[in-house]
Amino acid sequence: MGKYVIHGGHELHGEVSVSGFKNAALAVITSAILVEGTCVIGNIPKISDVTVHLEILKRMGASVRLIDDTTVEINCSKLRGPRAIFDDLTRKTRASTYLMGAVLGRFGSAHVSLSGGCDLGSRPIDQHIKGFEALGCNVEIKNGAIHITAQDGLHPARIYFDQRTVGGTINVMLAAVRIPGQTVIENANKEPHIVDVANFLNAMGANITGAGTDVIKVRGVRRLHGGIYSIIPDQIEAGTFMAAVAATGGEIVIHNIIPKHLECISTKFEEMGVEIVDLDDSILVRRTGPLRRTNVKTMPYPGFPTDMNSQTAVLMCLAQGTSIMTESIFQDRFRYVDELRRMGAHAQVDGQIAVFEGVENLTGAPVRACDLRAGAALIIAGLAAQGVTEISCIEYIERGYDNLVAKFNGLGAGITLVEDEAEAEILANA
Ligand code: EPU
Repeated sequence: MGKYVIHGGHELHGEVSVSGFKNAALAVITSAILVEGTCVIGNIPKISDVTVHLEILKRMGASVRLIDDTTVEINCSKLRGPRAIFDDLTRKTRASTYLMGAVLGRFGSAHVSLSGGCDLGSRPIDQHIKGFEALGCNVEIKNGAIHITAQDGLHPARIYFDQRTVGGTINVMLAAVRIPGQTVIENANKEPHIVDVANFLNAMGANITGAGTDVIKVRGVRRLHGGIYSIIPDQIEAGTFMAAVAATGGEIVIHNIIPKHLECISTKFEEMGVEIVDLDDSILVRRTGPLRRTNVKTMPYPGFPTDMNSQTAVLMCLAQGTSIMTESIFQDRFRYVDELRRMGAHAQVDGQIAVFEGVENLTGAPVRACDLRAGAALIIAGLAAQGVTEISCIEYIERGYDNLVAKFNGLGAGITLVEDEAEAEILANA
């Protein structure tokens, strides 16, 4: 894969449209396993993680047809059975954990390779397993796969999560959707994509209430039929553009958003001196004055999202005074800090806390994306920095952002994708 070469130091201006939410699309596509009928799913982002999930379904025997750039038709009526041992694919995404719940919900047992995804520290699945066991399953992990069986069949249950988990909440919902009786998930997460998955399943005939609150009730139905559904806009992609214009200065309008989903981000950015105006399904973001310091602690929704930690840290690098970022979801979120230091950031990390002393300017440097959101942060830093930034390991970024370079360039950014080293060097010296 190539590199991004960014000639920084320019304001962003113009309009951009956000794609469908990666994390919702991956969960909804996988949920189609539960449906015996044709699902037409729109507003799908064009990202490599989606390609991986569609390939998984095809290997399981689904019929998958792209109707246009952002719409896919999936029919899982003829799936072969509860085996999805595709280590080469499941290792590529975290959302492949949803295969466990979806396959279990469809077939009453599941044999699935373990998932991969961004390395953000240890990512246990004990709460998913706790949920499956409560539904009557025996769970065993061997040879890189998880084997979930229910000798006496699945039964409904009341599950209280000991730890907030997006993936665990979705997985138990998927497993329970076709179990006769009522399953109750307590201490559930409330993220917009959990609501999106519940809405998709309900549109296919499920009976789920309470998604978006911390108690979700799933009344099992015998069968899910097909239907049409459209994925919600990507809250984190929108937040990434908001952070970018906050870092570079300028004014942009971001289209295809749900303002409510952005409140957790906008409130904090406003504290930092960014002007934000809600315009129905668009938002205007402007930064003309200096950035002010702030403190942020990441939390489950509606708290400040961990997936905006690194992009917001770039603003902290440039804000007047000392800012503190506390990460409460993932152990290893701060690996990007070393890369920002290469660009002149003044930052210290101690465990789950990073302290940023604002500097006047960042300076361009060769840096490496160490995960998806870290990669997005480096683009933002590169756009704001004086000089040229070269970002390598960009496959992380392309996993989760649809057409990001073209969208940024439409706002006046100078980003070039170069495939080979020699060309990157020539561009960096141009
Ligand atoms: N956790 C446990 N036990 C479990 C499950 C989770 O201890 O059984 C811990 C995790 O180790 C982590 C915390 O709970 O420390 C939260 O994990 P969660 O299950 O909520 O996260 P996830 O489902 O693995 C999803 C998103 C992430 C996003 C987090 C938090 C997808 C595919 N991934 O991950 O998205 O950061 O929720 O909102 O939806 C990204 O898009 O870049 C990304 C990493």
